[in-house]
Amino acid sequence: MKLLVLGGPNLNFLGIREVGIYGLMTYTDLIHDIQEYALSYGIETLFFQSNHEGELIDYLQSHYREIDGIIINPGALTHYSYALYDCLKSIPVCAIEVHLSDIHQREPFRRISVIKDACIAQICGKGLHSYLEAIDRFRKDKQS
Ligand code: DQA
Repeated sequence: MKLLVLGGPNLNFLGIREVGIYGLMTYTDLIHDIQEYALSYGIETLFFQSNHEGELIDYLQSHYREIDGIIINPGALTHYSYALYDCLKSIPVCAIEVHLSDIHQREPFRRISVIKDACIAQICGKGLHSYLEAIDRFRKDKQS
């Protein structure tokens, strides 16, 4: 199984941005831990992060044939990107939406996810473990 882990705007600033919310873990640390966890189950991971909506869409459109699932943290695009929603709906690959923080316990604008309905699940508020749970969900779905 090969999973694409997609990151939206400002995730490259983990460890610098709002450490009280997102912690000190850098994006490189995050990728490392996700990759190790996935590999321990023989799952291959592919990573792409961009601060630009169109680049995320271009990446999905050109790589969806190579992957079995998508773990997406769209950052702030979660709350307003219908273009990303349309893109996820256009491709025949299941996606799980993840967030490090609990978007339901923060500012009102974060409680709305416009991409939620293009995903099979939303996991948030668990830091790195949001991603690891998403991997577990793909593992379980594959077994059943
Ligand atoms: C985030 C939550 C979003 O609201 C925010 O814009 C982010 C990070 C999270 O992982 O908690 O950039 O997706």
